[in-house]
Amino acid sequence: MKVLVVFYSMYGHIYRLAEAIAEGAREVVGTQVEMRRVPETLPEEVLNKMGAIEAQKTFAHIRICKIDELASADAIIFGTPTRFGNMCGQMRQFLDATGQLWARGALVGKVGSVFTSSGTQHGGQESTILSFHITLLHQGMVIVGLPYTFQGQTRNDEITGGSPYGASTIAGGKGERMPSENELAAARFQGKHVAGIAFRLSR
Ligand SMILES: Cc1cc2nc3c(=O)[nH]c(=O)nc-3n(C[C@H](O)[C@H](O)[C@H](O)COP(=O)(O)O)c2cc1C
Repeated sequence: MKVLVVFYSMYGHIYRLAEAIAEGAREVVGTQVEMRRVPETLPEEVLNKMGAIEAQKTFAHIRICKIDELASADAIIFGTPTRFGNMCGQMRQFLDATGQLWARGALVGKVGSVFTSSGTQHGGQESTILSFHITLLHQGMVIVGLPYTFQGQTRNDEITGGSPYGASTIAGGKGERMPSENELAAARFQGKHVAGIAFRLSR
């Protein structure tokens, strides 16, 4: 049973959540978990101006995802930062190259799930995840979110990401806030939850 965590991260917030997602998925016995990045599309000069070069070095060791790797996974958990309330362009471009998989129904019946990060608390986390689901539904995937049995998403005593749609973090306007313990727990829960469902579907 194979779970693929496919992400784009500019400053490391999504990468940190991706690690927690993978950690959770590994808790399901017999699960093989792989992490992959989607290709960068911005020129180095732009990344430099955006102050992303140093942060991106910390996850440069993660291999770039090949389209066919999606077809060999039982579940795929996608991570994307919010861009104007949507997935980032790097992820969009990657998904737009999966037409060959769509044509042969290669992802039909696989489990799909999404997590995200935004700069601000109400900056579009839910719209990012829900609009991402549209692509997954076109691919015939079975969508899994973050159920309320993860009780950390009901807490009001601190600012926190996480919704029934998926784990998330609030990075702050300058990216100064890294995922909190509660947000990492949500990501671990989602990873384990997705792997558990994929396991049951694969039997
Ligand atoms: C072009 C652009 C658009 C963005 N749009 C939003 C947005 O709509 N709402 C928001 O809260 N944050 C927005 N952000 C902030 C990013 O979501 C934030 O940098 C990201 O979640 C950090 O995650 P990462 O370190 O994994 O890239 C935007 C950032 C960029 C560069």
